[in-house]
Amino acid sequence: MMRNDPCWCGSQKKWKKCHYPKQALKEQYLKKYGIILKNDEQIVGIRHACRLAATVLDKLCSMTKVGVTTNELDQYAKELFEEKNAISCCIGYGEPPFPKHICTSLNDVICHGIPNDVPLQQGDIINIDVACILNGYYGDCSKMVSLEPVDTEKRRVVDVSLECLNRAAQVLKPNNKLCEIGKAIESYASSQNCSVVDQFVGHGVGIGFHEEPQVAHHYNHSQIPLAPGMTLTIEPMINAGKRSGYIDKDHWTCRTIDGKPSAQWEHTFLITETGYEILTIPDYTLFSHVRSK
Ligand code: MF3
Ligand code: CO
Repeated sequence: MMRNDPCWCGSQKKWKKCHYPKQALKEQYLKKYGIILKNDEQIVGIRHACRLAATVLDKLCSMTKVGVTTNELDQYAKELFEEKNAISCCIGYGEPPFPKHICTSLNDVICHGIPNDVPLQQGDIINIDVACILNGYYGDCSKMVSLEPVDTEKRRVVDVSLECLNRAAQVLKPNNKLCEIGKAIESYASSQNCSVVDQFVGHGVGIGFHEEPQVAHHYNHSQIPLAPGMTLTIEPMINAGKRSGYIDKDHWTCRTIDGKPSAQWEHTFLITETGYEILTIPDYTLFSHVRSK
């Protein structure tokens, strides 16, 4: 039987879209695209890592107030990961090695901001990006915190980037093409007078930190069909002005070329048989203590 033949079960669907064996699909995705379709055991492990990343992220967001430094957030992340025997994906990553446990990207920083000793100020918007390894599995997510009152341009990028993530999630189901994600994001962002960063992309994640496929947030032509067992991030970076950025002399911090604000929200998603599951959902039973700050 050929992949395009009618399925033996009488569904009138093509075999490849019906009873085509899971194992054959896995091998095909790996060979053709380098994409690892995860099995049930791997999904359980990835879900745990994602829940930890999301829970740590929420605790950091609650602590994010005027006067707090991003180094204090970084230190708290380190302690929380240690408590769960988890490792930050960020520290030591890349060349030169990323020096901290989380990324903290303020105002005109698009992504990969490095925590420092500067106290947060009223009017700042900040993205906190948390990625971790737990029992060998990876999870990755980020959120914005606005230190109100913030100006209208900042509010716009914060709101638009969240709506972009939500709209992208709505296209996640088997057989939809990867390029639908970029279309959902860029069509909405441009309708709101915002631009979409094309210099950084979302990515497969789970068994490694940055796996195939690359998930473009801008208009693109990727015809890769989504398939059950894919785990990937969507993390649109949305700018109030031009889409381009430049890398600071610290070799990591990426800033908008025009100094206008940028915002980003990120989840790790699983493609299921019928649609998607957000894996980076916090689990408040993971930590019992609260820190008052
Ligand atoms: N979500 C970001 C990414 O996927 C996390 C970056 S961590 C860093 O690129 F160490 F690479 F900065
Ligand atoms: Co990521």
